[in-house]
Amino acid sequence: MTILVTGGAGFIGSNFVLDWLASPEHRDELVVNLDALTYAGNLENLKALQGDARHVFVKGDICDRALVDRLLAEHKPRALIHFAAESHVDRSISGPGAFMKTNVEGTFTLLEAARVYWSAMGEADKAAFRFHHVSTDEVYGSLKADDPPFAETNPYEPNSPYSASKAASDHLVRAWHHTYGLPVLTSNCSNNYGPYHFPEKLIPLMIVNALAGKLLPVYGDGQQIRDWLYVKDHASAIRAVLAGGRVGEVYNVGGWNEMANIDIVKTVCALLDELHPSADGPYARLITYVKDRPGHDRRYAIDARKIERELGWRPAETFATGIRKTVQWYLDNPEWVAHVQSGSYRDWVSQQYGS
Ligand code: NAD
Ligand code: TYD
Repeated sequence: MTILVTGGAGFIGSNFVLDWLASPEHRDELVVNLDALTYAGNLENLKALQGDARHVFVKGDICDRALVDRLLAEHKPRALIHFAAESHVDRSISGPGAFMKTNVEGTFTLLEAARVYWSAMGEADKAAFRFHHVSTDEVYGSLKADDPPFAETNPYEPNSPYSASKAASDHLVRAWHHTYGLPVLTSNCSNNYGPYHFPEKLIPLMIVNALAGKLLPVYGDGQQIRDWLYVKDHASAIRAVLAGGRVGEVYNVGGWNEMANIDIVKTVCALLDELHPSADGPYARLITYVKDRPGHDRRYAIDARKIERELGWRPAETFATGIRKTVQWYLDNPEWVAHVQSGSYRDWVSQQYGS
């Protein structure tokens, strides 16, 4: 059995691939991993799979239809799990073009390739095939303090170029199911954190900056709220949706853990004080309020009752256990951090994999 994963060298995709091949149900399967290795793609995340015949890495763009067609024809996957995206809101504000290209056109390309591939399958394979689209809670827009959390039925109100591009991709996935019958699944997840998180996002940025004695930039008043989920729990949620999710349905995935940004940063500082104290004093001394992000969404929160009710999924980690593991992972992996910071993780690809 084979799955085709896109974006499997990024933060969540690499955690998913490692989790998939470690899980007893899937350890004999093949994972074909299509990733363009943008700045966010890092094959060092998949070092544990080097020389492992169950993982076939293909460097390429999801917008390359001929390549996607070839991979589908050659490997005959039973599912396509689509993570590849431009994913950073701040980058989407300074350069939205890449978001439209990968998130919208890339998803369109995959849907069309999958539709043609799926249409030609035999009945049994056709019934079993799944196109799983990995999306975000940001498509629903921003909540007020006392609004209920996002349910799957919430209207879409994306506010950033990133969330608008993801919303567009969600709509395409929905339409390919409704019009062509393509067996799709969509999951909309809250903010992830954990190992291999690129240090441009809040939690890893705070950890690596604190360890380097650099300032910890908190946007605006730091009172923006996000729901946070440990990345391995996101991987298990996707496995649950793939295994038992109803075709054409959307599942919201979250950690039941709303926190203000400033409290996240203070938690990270306190853990570092405990696990890696600085001679210069508590890390919270480095917290600095900076100019707010334009159009900054105030609050995201997820109602994850549907996935629990239908599929029995709940996160295994609390924020307290997940953030401790995460901080410890960054302390234990200074080489990974150094390679990302110096940019040499990109050289590592050519050293390890040749051209
Ligand atoms: P990431 O930025 O860490 O990784 C994205 C990966 O996609 C990288 O490996 C990159 O090389 C690859 N990629 C980018 N453009 C590509 C293209 N044109 N062709 C092939 N590969 C390409 O992102 P992430 O945080 O791992 O997010 C993965 C998915 O999960 C995204 O779809 C994102 O919208 C969604 N998501 C992320 C979060 C989060 O908190 N990070 C939360 C909910 C949903
Ligand atoms: P981020 O990790 O970029 O995820 P997203 O914007 O997709 O939620 O940011 C999480 C929150 O942290 C968001 O409200 C913006 C804020 N933030 C800061 O305050 N400082 C920073 O340096 C970064 C990167 C984010």
